[in-house]
Amino acid sequence: MKALVLAGGSGTRLRPFTLTSPKQLVPVANKPVLYYVLEAIAEAGITDVGMVVGETAAEIRSAVGDGSEFGLDVTYLRQEAPLGLAHAVLIAQEFLGDDDFVMYLGDNFIIDGISGAVRHFAAERPDAQVLLTRVADPTAFGVAELDAAGRIARLEEKPAEPRSDLALVGVYLFTPAVYEAVRSIEPSARGELEITDAIQWLIDAGRDVRSTTISGYWKDTGNVTDMLEVNRSVLEGIEPHKAGFADAASELVGRVRLEAGAEVRDSRIVGPVVIGAGAVISGSYVGPYTSIGEGCRIEDSEIEFSIVQRDSHLGGVRRVQGSLIGRNVTVTPAPRIPAGNRLILGDHSKVQISS
Ligand code: DAU
Repeated sequence: MKALVLAGGSGTRLRPFTLTSPKQLVPVANKPVLYYVLEAIAEAGITDVGMVVGETAAEIRSAVGDGSEFGLDVTYLRQEAPLGLAHAVLIAQEFLGDDDFVMYLGDNFIIDGISGAVRHFAAERPDAQVLLTRVADPTAFGVAELDAAGRIARLEEKPAEPRSDLALVGVYLFTPAVYEAVRSIEPSARGELEITDAIQWLIDAGRDVRSTTISGYWKDTGNVTDMLEVNRSVLEGIEPHKAGFADAASELVGRVRLEAGAEVRDSRIVGPVVIGAGAVISGSYVGPYTSIGEGCRIEDSEIEFSIVQRDSHLGGVRRVQGSLIGRNVTVTPAPRIPAGNRLILGDHSKVQISS
């Protein structure tokens, strides 16, 4: 069995973050979503991975390399344009050969991994198997309608009026039966060869398509609340780890992961918290469910339930909470005189200020 990871496309939804970085590299608990994908594939016992890349190929390659750090052998497959998930299957056919494969969308996050689904598929070997999950807003997903016996009756891509709240998760298991389907369908209204249509084609052709419903799922839909929530649930599972330095005046409470070269001085850290390599925290409070990226400086500040991406600086700011801060950002207090907030914000930024 092989894996096909989709890390192409051009990210526009989780703005402003994906304007400067591919969405597959958005960090959750200081680790790119794509790394969790690769770890889940390795854990399922798969080693041969085809990685579909597009205009952000260079960044993906520099983050993943040849895959050996994950125990994987990664082959890059260039997709000239994001022409759809089924198009990605078409261009990967030569690499995949006659093997069954799991297709994993590189911006999807499944808390419990995919080992169970892969085992189940290998044992039963239907033509295709999809994973479903209940979501609050099905209009952002492929949506499945099940019949009375629990089999998939119909799939629809991002319907304006969804017939259920069961969304297609971005993990699909296929036998080579899928190639006839992806070759038979036409591009959708958004100009893409939809994998949803290919699976519907298999169902209409009377092929054996099964589904399993899972929980513990997240994907970037541009929703910051969801992102903080997935960060929270991953931090829930971390173990304390102290590769960095904390001085005697500091207190580390609960599960705090302090990476190598990180320094904590005269500060109180209440876990679960992860502090990236080389970050410096001084005179500050860092509260539960916070990820501080590598190289950040947090000085004389208070922050909790937030994500701060690498190389950012918070100096003298109180009560930052529920915030998602990008890379290389500086947050400082406004001078008292003249009274007023001075903002230098890039396109698509969102700021809430008390004034
Ligand atoms: O995440 C689950 C959803 O993924 C499913 O519910 C939908 O049925 C399915 O169509 C897909 O929807 P999206 O429109 O959200 O997919 P997106 O364009 O975000 O692409 C998913 C991943 O695949 C992302 O990592 C980019 C990559 N990709 C996408 C396209 C269209 C490629 O590598 N090549 C492509 O041509």
